Amino acid sequence: MTPLWNANLVETRDSFVTHLECAMTGERVPADRLHNLSPAGFPLLVRYDLAGAARRLTREALAARPQDIWRYREILPVRRGEDIVSLGEGRTPLIALEAGPNLLVKDEARLPTGSFKARGIALAVSMAKALGVTRLAMPTNGNAGAALSAYAARAGIEAIAFCPADTPETNIREMSAQGARVYRVNGLIDECGRIVGEGAREGRWFDLSTLKEPYRIEGKKTMGLELAEQLGWALPDVVFYPTGGGTGLIGMWKAFGEMEAMGLIGSQRPRMVAVQAAGCAPIVKAFDERAEHAARWEDAATRAAGIRVPRAIGDFLILRAVRESGGFAMAVAEEALLEDTARCAREEGLLLCPEGGATLAAWREAVARGLVGRDERAVLFNCASGLKYELPDRSEPLDKAGRIDLASL
Ligand SMILES: Cc1ncc(COP(=O)(O)O)c(C=O)c1O
Repeated sequence: MTPLWNANLVETRDSFVTHLECAMTGERVPADRLHNLSPAGFPLLVRYDLAGAARRLTREALAARPQDIWRYREILPVRRGEDIVSLGEGRTPLIALEAGPNLLVKDEARLPTGSFKARGIALAVSMAKALGVTRLAMPTNGNAGAALSAYAARAGIEAIAFCPADTPETNIREMSAQGARVYRVNGLIDECGRIVGEGAREGRWFDLSTLKEPYRIEGKKTMGLELAEQLGWALPDVVFYPTGGGTGLIGMWKAFGEMEAMGLIGSQRPRMVAVQAAGCAPIVKAFDERAEHAARWEDAATRAAGIRVPRAIGDFLILRAVRESGGFAMAVAEEALLEDTARCAREEGLLLCPEGGATLAAWREAVARGLVGRDERAVLFNCASGLKYELPDRSEPLDKAGRIDLASL
């Protein structure tokens, strides 16, 4: 079903994809094939003929295109328009917060299925469709599974999601509503991932786990492309990113490099700040210890479900991007992230998800500690809608039959 009104989907636009490359060894593998990890067991990154793409994907060409993720098709891996599975992945707004003079939230809640997972899953499911996959499975903390179920339903592909039993309920029900089979596992996301991996090895389904599949990150990188374009082709001073598997942070870093190679931006980069919750901060620990990889975080616990990721296969890519950017990794206390989530909703009318609240708490702490200037242009990523999480009830009962003292209400 091709929407006729969106030129990004119906016009012939060549993808300049050339091959994929192991992020650790540089080994090349062919494009247009199904892939999980590289032969050496690390994430694969998609590479493009950026000089060729640059001739088509100019600032002027972009300015004339509809504002969705498919405007960047020259540097996305889907070749044929008919393979695109889309639910309307529009550009997300940058919203100024009063909490700081130059503080912006990139509000990813506005995407289909209420989270930025739509970006990555739209690409991954489109590629799965192009390459003939009929059944997809993934471990999920909720938002990715919600996106998977929607895009798989649209593509006519079977979807199976394995999530920790205490995953936010709205996401679990959304997955079922959108036709996926959902299993509540009495374990954390990496333990769900083990089950998915075992089934994939037996040939029961294709493993769509983040970074164990190379195309999700290509969707996530559109956050970086969009950010540059929205800010007039200038990047902010600092980006606060709620980091679980790190796909978005790695993807944006990749996007910045590709944009520079294409002459769309210069060499200025934001400092990338990987934000985690104190109850699950493997990347922060590895950053502080100057390690290349992160050890598994035992007994991971936080209400910010999307960043409750005890182990990330792309740990070294997150750490590299953070270090190269001159940024840092920071853990915020659970009370601080919940308080900032509540305060932002109450005072600014923006209902962040707890992961987004963590970035606001991290910004405050970074300013207080002198790591970031209060006036610096900072972008916080709110990666999902606060409506997907259980909200505290602060209502009071009112008896319609009793005497209501209106003055006291
Ligand atoms: C709301 C939210 N924020 C942040 C993240 C972490 O994203 P990433 O895997 O890119 O680190 C997730 C992932 O599930 C999420 O759902």
